[in-house]
Amino acid sequence: MQLDKKRIASDCNLAVNGGKPIRDTWLPYGRQTISQADVEKVVSTLTSDYLTQGPVIPEFESLVADYVGVKFAVAISNGTAALHAAYHALGISKGDLIITSPMTFAATSNAAVYLGARPLFADVEPSTGLIEIESIRKLLSRPERKSIKAIVAIDFAGQPCRYRELEELASEAGVPLVIDAAHSLGSRYAGNKGGFAGALSTFSFHPVKSITTGEGGMVLTNDRKLYESVVLFRSHGIQKGRDRLLKDEGPWWHEMQELGFNYRMTEIQAALGLSQMASLDSFVERRAEIAATYRQKLAENQYYECLDLLPESASAHHLFPILVKKQPFAENRKLVFEALHAENIGVQVHYIPTYKMPFYQELLNENWQQQCPNTEEFYAREISLPIFPAMSDFDIDNVVAALNKIGKAFWN
Ligand SMILES: Cc1ncc(COP(=O)(O)O)c(C=O)c1O
Repeated sequence: MQLDKKRIASDCNLAVNGGKPIRDTWLPYGRQTISQADVEKVVSTLTSDYLTQGPVIPEFESLVADYVGVKFAVAISNGTAALHAAYHALGISKGDLIITSPMTFAATSNAAVYLGARPLFADVEPSTGLIEIESIRKLLSRPERKSIKAIVAIDFAGQPCRYRELEELASEAGVPLVIDAAHSLGSRYAGNKGGFAGALSTFSFHPVKSITTGEGGMVLTNDRKLYESVVLFRSHGIQKGRDRLLKDEGPWWHEMQELGFNYRMTEIQAALGLSQMASLDSFVERRAEIAATYRQKLAENQYYECLDLLPESASAHHLFPILVKKQPFAENRKLVFEALHAENIGVQVHYIPTYKMPFYQELLNENWQQQCPNTEEFYAREISLPIFPAMSDFDIDNVVAALNKIGKAFWN
């Protein structure tokens, strides 16, 4: 793709202008790490008696629950289903509202829309991308206050959001708090494991996340009622617990007590997840090393800045977002993004604010752009650099060299 050479550098060294790229092979922004032990565990499950609804799923669930320090964990087919089940467990239904951040994957809001609810968007903090407490407070004072049934915060990029302040606000407002912790398995918050606060939290085990099961997710809670609701919802709404049946016509009898889904994880996926858990801490440690190296190499950089980290938490570093410093932000971010791709550096943008999606523009018919100025600027400036456990120091050097090569060509 040829850039407008009049407007930007006609520097022939830039790969986007026909120069030699910084590297010959594509560096993705994220990818899974699969060990021989993972392969063996999956293969042994494939040849076992159960491919679904067997013993590995509860084993995986217990391991994650113990790791995070919660009572209950329910493995589910993906992170979106986890959100759907969590919102359903809270009784969210037609006409309800949730407060959430627009700086997330669309699934955070979509899962509420599945239930007939709609999102209200709180703005984000400009230097962390985390949901802004004051903005939630403002939304809670709307006339539709009574319809607001959940506050859903996102551990953006792997950094736990402000759990303490959020829990205080949620309990003051009498509205349950849900953490979309898709990014933050393996993080820490105030001396504990991150990835859980409030009533429920959800994980995703998509391949770029802290651990993977291919597709997969989990719902966490300390509340038995919420847990039982999620279990029912995951499996068609069918109750099999003998003590929970409304009647019993015989040993074959089970009851579909509500409308649920088939959101079950397979034994094969759970086997991969169980095996991946053994590597979780080392994965997060390597991500932290990569993040620290980026921070050190980009400290005082004239073209780009890193996000702020909260002193009370340790991020799982799912993403490594940077912000372009030079105005006009949107135009410069686009040029840098295209130029980095030409250099074989597979950056991404996280996220296109949910309210910008045509579906939500039509559904909501409200000017969220105007109400979320920080989100607008964050989106205009953001680029996510590659980060994944198997990334080498050489790869990191390539990314930083490409960033500086482009910065110099464009702005010196
Ligand atoms: C913040 C966030 N929430 C929810 C999801 C949905 O997870 P899944 O892709 O497993 O359905 C993702 C996945 O990318 C995500 O990043």
